[in-house]
Amino acid sequence: MKNFILINQKIGEFKKKFIEVEGDKSLSIRFVLLSALTKGKCTASNILKSEDVLNAINCINKLGIKTNLKKKKIEIFGKGLFGLKFKNNLNLDTGNSGTTARLLCSLLIDSNYKIKITGDQSLKKRDMKRIIEPLKKFGATFKSNNGKLPLLIKGTKFPKPIKYTENLGSAQCKSAVMIAALKTKGETKLKCLPSRNHTEIFFKKVLKVPIRIIKQKKYEIINIKGQKKMKSFNYRIPGDISSASFFIVLTLLSKNNFLKIKNINLNPSRTGIIKILKMMGSEIKILNLRYYKGEKIGDIIVRSSDNLRSINLDSRYNSSAIDEFLLIFLVASKCNGVSTFNNLSELNKKESKRLDWGIKILSFMGVKVKKIKNSGIKIWGKKNFKIHKKIIIKNYLKDHRILMVCAIAGLALGGKWKIYDQNSYRTSFPSFRKILKNLGAQIQ
Ligand code: S3P
Repeated sequence: MKNFILINQKIGEFKKKFIEVEGDKSLSIRFVLLSALTKGKCTASNILKSEDVLNAINCINKLGIKTNLKKKKIEIFGKGLFGLKFKNNLNLDTGNSGTTARLLCSLLIDSNYKIKITGDQSLKKRDMKRIIEPLKKFGATFKSNNGKLPLLIKGTKFPKPIKYTENLGSAQCKSAVMIAALKTKGETKLKCLPSRNHTEIFFKKVLKVPIRIIKQKKYEIINIKGQKKMKSFNYRIPGDISSASFFIVLTLLSKNNFLKIKNINLNPSRTGIIKILKMMGSEIKILNLRYYKGEKIGDIIVRSSDNLRSINLDSRYNSSAIDEFLLIFLVASKCNGVSTFNNLSELNKKESKRLDWGIKILSFMGVKVKKIKNSGIKIWGKKNFKIHKKIIIKNYLKDHRILMVCAIAGLALGGKWKIYDQNSYRTSFPSFRKILKNLGAQIQ
């Protein structure tokens, strides 16, 4: 059976001028895991039905939580903060999802049995020490494969509040500590570097857990008090800016196009891509801006541009664009001049080594590119850059964002692309191919 896609033709003028992308992945996973800890029925509309989210649902099902998924609606019947059903040697497979694996561990810190957490080939390569270390402080015990999956976690009957400093700027670590803190008697003090703040907003505006956040130079101090119970709630998941970004960049780099992308989550801790692309000279506008339960939402309007500028990016933008750097590198290849990006070591700790892959993909495309010290990258771009090569992409650990960025490169900049593991995009964005087709893309 064919396991690759072929792209041999650039996209023309779009047939459709507006699109919607599916629900946000970070918010969908948080909705699933946090609903399980409330008492009663929680519902969400526009839930993302990607493999990562389906794995999270499967895991809470195995922990005794009933769910009902119909079209894009889901009901989750939470059993309270201490209501999960733990069984000895339960095996929870979190698939490709770092967010599910890391946050799920925090739900298990009061488990009286050993529970196994595992994942796919890619997830088994990722660092779990970053959550093992703080969760041990709460009183949980771990056995792991040298800090990686599969791991066994056994909780404690009396998780105790902790003081912890998070130095990676990882939202998954921060969230794992925050969720575990809910199950303690007392106050946890978490000092952390900035990262996406969906969990903080969810605690305050949805779960009504009163957390205190104090700014202290480059850190934030988050104080979370242990809770006895949390009420059920209803939620509507906004569109995912990370998914929208593929179409922002496709529009920007193709010719004579214009696109409106509706109902996108525009939380400032996620909109680095928009800020960076604007600094590079693109025309992006936001319309219909509003708030929903603490999250900013709006419509994005973008136009093709042949006047993009290279950039020397200040690393303080890194965290708010962390999942979009492959796309940003692509844009840099079409800017006159040299672009520089620094301090991107976390990129090599994602579903694949994305910094190294970024360099590989650009070199395949014929772009001059160099890895520099400080986990950085230098890209020599050209305004009229076009791809004239045959490119084969394989063995990329089925990283969804690698497949999608290569498809966008082929459709916007040309070349003859053969991309293996054709279904990788289903991890985060199942409608990716259908939207491309509706816009007029030719993919075989
Ligand atoms: C996520 C946080 C980010 C991001 C990931 C999703 C989350 O990772 O890369 O795709 O939902 O919390 P970090 O933990 O490195 O911030």
